[in-house]
Amino acid sequence: MKDMKNIKTKRLITSALPYVNNIPHLGNLIQMLSADVFARFCRSRGYETMYVCGTDEYGTATETKALQDNKTPRELCDFFYKIHKDIYEWFGIAFDKFGRTSNEECTEITQLIFKKLDENGFIKEHVTKQLFCTKCSMFLADRYVDGTCPKCGAKDARGDQCDSCGTLLDPTQLLEPRCHTCGSTPEVRETKHLYIDLPSIAPKLEEWMATASVSGRWSQNAIQMTKAWIRDGLNERAITRDLKWGIPVPKEGYENKVFYVWFNAPIGYMSITKQLADELAAAGKKSFDWRKWWLPSESSEKFEDGAEIQLFQFIGKDNIPFHTVVFPCSEIGSGMDFTKLFHMSSTEFLNYESGKFSKSKGIGVFGSDAVESGLPSDAWRFYIYFNRPEKQDYQFTWSDFQEKYNKELIGNLGNLVNRTLTFTAKNYGGKIPDGKKDEALWAKIEEKERRVTELLEWAELKDALHEIFEISDICNKAFQDAEPWKAIKENKQAADDILYNLVYAIKDLMILIQPYMPKYSQVVAGYLGKTIACAKYGESDGDGALTWDDLGKFGGLSDIGETKIYFSRLDDDATSTFRNKFAGNQADRDSAGDASKEKKSKKKEKKEKKEPSVLPVGQQADFFNANIELTVAKIVEVKPNPDSDKLFIETLDDGSGVPRTIQSGLRAYLTEQELLGKSVIIASNLAPRTMRGVESRGMLLAGDYTEDGKAMVEVIDVSWANPGTKVVLEGADVSAAKKAEITGDEFFSVKIESVGGTVQVAGKKLLADGRAITMAKAVDSEIG
Ligand code: 2FM
Ligand code: ZN
Repeated sequence: MKDMKNIKTKRLITSALPYVNNIPHLGNLIQMLSADVFARFCRSRGYETMYVCGTDEYGTATETKALQDNKTPRELCDFFYKIHKDIYEWFGIAFDKFGRTSNEECTEITQLIFKKLDENGFIKEHVTKQLFCTKCSMFLADRYVDGTCPKCGAKDARGDQCDSCGTLLDPTQLLEPRCHTCGSTPEVRETKHLYIDLPSIAPKLEEWMATASVSGRWSQNAIQMTKAWIRDGLNERAITRDLKWGIPVPKEGYENKVFYVWFNAPIGYMSITKQLADELAAAGKKSFDWRKWWLPSESSEKFEDGAEIQLFQFIGKDNIPFHTVVFPCSEIGSGMDFTKLFHMSSTEFLNYESGKFSKSKGIGVFGSDAVESGLPSDAWRFYIYFNRPEKQDYQFTWSDFQEKYNKELIGNLGNLVNRTLTFTAKNYGGKIPDGKKDEALWAKIEEKERRVTELLEWAELKDALHEIFEISDICNKAFQDAEPWKAIKENKQAADDILYNLVYAIKDLMILIQPYMPKYSQVVAGYLGKTIACAKYGESDGDGALTWDDLGKFGGLSDIGETKIYFSRLDDDATSTFRNKFAGNQADRDSAGDASKEKKSKKKEKKEKKEPSVLPVGQQADFFNANIELTVAKIVEVKPNPDSDKLFIETLDDGSGVPRTIQSGLRAYLTEQELLGKSVIIASNLAPRTMRGVESRGMLLAGDYTEDGKAMVEVIDVSWANPGTKVVLEGADVSAAKKAEITGDEFFSVKIESVGGTVQVAGKKLLADGRAITMAKAVDSEIG
């Protein structure tokens, strides 16, 4: 495949920098995964490639979340940076650098670009009125003011918008405004800010966009949205904020302000490239000048004459104007010759089951959920690419996941690989038979391979993947038609021929599929004694690694040894377990063990499945006595789960002599000291569940209540009972046999509640050592 390629072309690749204050969901992961396929393809095809991404760390959202979590913004970012990095690693994303924006490289380049814009007269100053909370001593960002909508009277409007009537608001318009953080009434104060003068840069932007969007074949949604922005007239945009967590503004009078997060975020792409260069230099490794990629005219090091740097950017459609208007205006206005967007690959949205993926609401499948699913990361990658929302939104559903995974990945590609390699292993002792090239078959394969290449050159990832699966389909049909299981007895040469051709087709398929499913492709290539090239910047592949240039070539494979099935079928039970497990919102799921929340989410799940949430009252006591096992246990150790900001890991003495570990989502409510030494009640026969990498065997019982408008949790305390004591309903047999394991749904089909402070089921009291269990604060609450 030497055609169509200008070897002097360099590929600079970015994917939208994810905000750092939460765990990414599949909708966010699409961008990084998409850029990863493209980067892997470019490397295999022989282009010099640089793929950078990292966390977008500054801004109000981070500052507020840090406040909520009792952390400094730096601590919060460190915490989530690691979570992000680990998740992307699990997904096999081969960034050349996954960096962050809260570092000196980003400060340096942001300030440089700002100074140039200022020198060129594109920075303006305006005084505005803004709400200031004297209690929090800060100006409030629009979204962080609550109040009454002046238009429809809804009491829960936000400073930027009223969700009830949809009106866009200025926070000063809200009636009875309140600080979102502390609830006090803010006052109106004057503040000055700096603005980037987009209208003055617009003529140059338009000129650039007119050619760039055509020669770089931007996606249609990017072209439309950008044209609409320009047509409607660009406004000056504020680039400073009254915050602490951000990049300092190098201008007199702005000592207490920082740059707006969206001003520095895209500059993050440059600064992360510099971060890589600085790190390599600090480690004494071969480094490079970051400007070689981003500002070649000023770089100490150059690419060869005639080299073109093509910047491919992968983002979601909500980020389009920042990448096609605001960021290019910063670049153009600086007067420096920065590398500008070449190809824009902006996707539509991935929606989840019945609604949108939402980080703030915690709805959808999150990176951490995928990790815990037990499915290989390449199964997730396959599904995401196969359905990448390129021209319209796509709806993730579990039944669709099951269907595509079983039918295409396993039924088509997996089937071809398994049947061909096992047949060869079994009938030829693993030796690839000598055969004749089937010209007709290869004409079809090669035509498709050219098409895949053409599509991937323009990052048409989904269509290219579908073509690859068509190659696999063609090969499966060829296998079927040749009936090698018969031919091996009746016409051995025919069997030799088909196996010979198909083994080499599989080699090609692994080269083609490597960008999409890197781990799987390496495993299968390994069966043929090969690896597939995918070396990152500055690294090199081992000798003989297969590249795009090896497509269609024969020879050089070794004997096939033992092979294993890589993807196992997903049956209905497993699919519905996933559907239930990932229903509801993430915070609820995360807090399993926090009785009230778990219960609420379970109820919600059931509502969605339209099943009754609890048994009829008349059956509850019997069901409880027959199935539910409650045991007194003493908390002997408590520590936070490092991969969660809600979960505690508790070690319990449950009287069995073997320490028991459970997890509870109680960190927002109680301290480690408050839990340590307590004798609590646990649901001891609940099926174990792994949360954030730690297995939880059971759940402690607690109830919720409110105090001064704040949600609180009371853990049931049975200090009089020894660990191991069984907790039973009045009238039931304490010495009943050990009960079988039950599911969460079974547990929640019985309603345990605190009525006037006495804990009971269907009117019958719960007893430990004959004594009724009571609650001091959660006096009327559901217990779980
Ligand atoms: O929407 C977002 O998640 C932003 N953090 C994307 C930033 S992209 C780039 F400009 F950094
Ligand atoms: Zn306040």
